[in-house]
Amino acid sequence: MGRQVSRREFVKAGAAVSVAATAAPAVAAESPTVLVRKATPPVVIASANGHVFRNGGPRTCVEEAFARITAGEDVLDALIAGVNIVELDPTEMGVGYGGRPNADGVVQLDSCCMHGPRKRAGGVAALEGVRTPSLVAKAVMENTDHHLLVGGGAQAFARQMGFEIEDDLNTDSSRAEWLEWKRRIDPGHWLDPEKRSRAGAAAREAMVAEGRLDPESRLGTINCDGVGPGGEICGVTTTSGLAFKIPGRVGDSPILGAGLWLDGDVGVAGSTGRGEANLFNLCSYLIVEQMRQGRGPRDAALEALRRVKEDTVEQRLLTPGGEPAFGLTFYVIARSGEYAGVTMWGKENGREKQFAVCTENGPELLACESLLGDFPTA
Ligand code: GLY
Repeated sequence: MGRQVSRREFVKAGAAVSVAATAAPAVAAESPTVLVRKATPPVVIASANGHVFRNGGPRTCVEEAFARITAGEDVLDALIAGVNIVELDPTEMGVGYGGRPNADGVVQLDSCCMHGPRKRAGGVAALEGVRTPSLVAKAVMENTDHHLLVGGGAQAFARQMGFEIEDDLNTDSSRAEWLEWKRRIDPGHWLDPEKRSRAGAAAREAMVAEGRLDPESRLGTINCDGVGPGGEICGVTTTSGLAFKIPGRVGDSPILGAGLWLDGDVGVAGSTGRGEANLFNLCSYLIVEQMRQGRGPRDAALEALRRVKEDTVEQRLLTPGGEPAFGLTFYVIARSGEYAGVTMWGKENGREKQFAVCTENGPELLACESLLGDFPTA
């Protein structure tokens, strides 16, 4: 029999609880009503790359995480084992080893993780030399009183924790792309920082248009979230961030409330896409709070995207039709196990935006719900 829960817990848990002894009136002192949490069907969701890359092994991220959760492993450990596959796969160029370098050609990685039942969190930003920043984020959670370590401090911490520190996380492919980008923006021709930044963005977008840079992974990230059979909610986000970013630039991924947020009694939300837009509204936090008010995962995420749209007013960030000219996607699971992948644009560069999911029915890629339909073609 499950443990007795307070009325407050019962109300908060909503659909995840059931009355196990309804025959006994709640007022009868000798036979109190016992409320039992229903077993939650485990579920893992992730950005689409969570069911694409295998790093030469048999399983994708969501398959690995789901198998471990159902085998009884801690949910966060299982999710991190899943994203490690993607971090270590050199052909996924938006995450971990072989991720896209910054403007100086250095791969700087960001990650954070949250453990619902333990109410703990950890993160690292602008970390160099460690292939699996998600494991360093977890080490911050486990071994420090802090939530975020950055740059050289994060690397020194990783070294102290026994992580191997490598000189360079570039692969031949990531270095070749960076050299091509660098070739196009010879610093000798820049007159001022604004022109330099515009030239950097223009070269990156031209490389996308020419098919030399994958549009999906120029902001490549993996977010992976799961609910265990006892309703344990955890999540992890890990990325190499924006391709060719200004050194030290940190996006939404390692920031609690932006790249990831959860409340063990409510649900979890994580993101991929334009980090700056997410940071302006702390959307993952907003989505979980919307679910606390009673919205489902889909509607909560659509509300966050509406706010991002309202706050996007600079011309350079707008389509000719006045809508956000960038992608932003949220992956959301409610405590009940209900989940959704919700995105700004349903189709970008002709590709349908998808998310990965694994349940007892197996893994699959599903189409995300979109706020704005398909990105307008020129
Ligand atoms: N969402 C990844 C980034 O902006 O760095």
